[in-house]
Amino acid sequence: MRSLVDKLHRSRTLTAEEYKQLLLCRDAGTTDYLHQQASEVALTHFGNKIFIRGLIEITNHCRNNCYYCGIRKSNAGIARYELTREEILECCDEGYQSGFRTFVLQGGEMPDVKDEWTESVVASIHQRFPDCAVTLSLGEKSQEVYERFYRAGADRYLLRHETCNARHYGKLHPADMSLAHRLQCLDWLKEIGYQVGTGVMVGSPYQTVEHLVEDVLFIECFRPEMIGLGPFIPHHDTPFAAFPSGDIGLCLKLISIFRLLLPTSLIPATTALATVTPDGRERGILAGANVVMPNLSPSGRRADYSLYDNKVSVGTESAEGLRELKEQLKKIGYEVSEERGDYESGT
Ligand code: 5AD
Repeated sequence: MRSLVDKLHRSRTLTAEEYKQLLLCRDAGTTDYLHQQASEVALTHFGNKIFIRGLIEITNHCRNNCYYCGIRKSNAGIARYELTREEILECCDEGYQSGFRTFVLQGGEMPDVKDEWTESVVASIHQRFPDCAVTLSLGEKSQEVYERFYRAGADRYLLRHETCNARHYGKLHPADMSLAHRLQCLDWLKEIGYQVGTGVMVGSPYQTVEHLVEDVLFIECFRPEMIGLGPFIPHHDTPFAAFPSGDIGLCLKLISIFRLLLPTSLIPATTALATVTPDGRERGILAGANVVMPNLSPSGRRADYSLYDNKVSVGTESAEGLRELKEQLKKIGYEVSEERGDYESGT
């Protein structure tokens, strides 16, 4: 099995059957070796530096009804909010003072009438913080709207494909959403010139290892600049409330596989990972992740941005906890970078 890891490291590709074997492998020696090789590759490209991104959850209104997500349209159990431009800029001000040079505006999918507002908020941030990157994570939009956001100053866009198997996608989303359209959006984003992030919810209901192999093959071919992976975590007010959380070991393996596949990609140790296990973030980094995304949202709103149950947004998951985060990272030999941390293609 170790030879598979060596092969992946060397040739940056495996066959579908080999990926499957690696994902199914339960041998601790092999898994440790995989993580070790991946973290060495990350060290080669990024040193012991971890990029930080300030996450601002701008709204929990959403027009979609994804079966897994706590802010889905038909969940009447949460208080809906929308930050104002001033609130968003205040979050950025605070973040800037703490050392953040990337702001991620994330939210539910807003109606098209909000596009102009979003565009002008991006422009305001870009103007006030010319040395910062603006990342958007606002779901599916038309090509023209993505272009407008880009011209206003957005540099990066996160849009997870969630699963690359159309039938599985259909089990996670109502019929008005499709994998084909999601992939179309990803193509548009890339064409426009964004640094594009995609990714997968690991262990989502009905997911098989074959589906994950399809995800790996897709990512190998699409070559996103950023890859976000986290375990599925049930939310009590969704149709998937009774399903179990995704397996953290599998998430960590995927992080390592993607690090070996795309050595200079930006891979966060996600909040979902930190939610399922207290040392999830450190383990993500030791498996090859090189980004963390502390929460910069106003603290009074965080509980309402409940994508899943028990989502952590305090302590080291928060911007206030940056000092604590730095200490945690130091213990495993890493430091926070205060650079923008754009994607750079390697050799
Ligand atoms: N568990 C884990 N991740 C979730 N997301 C949404 N709902 C859940 C959940 N229940 C993730 C999706 C989405 C990202 C913003 O949050 O992958 O792309």
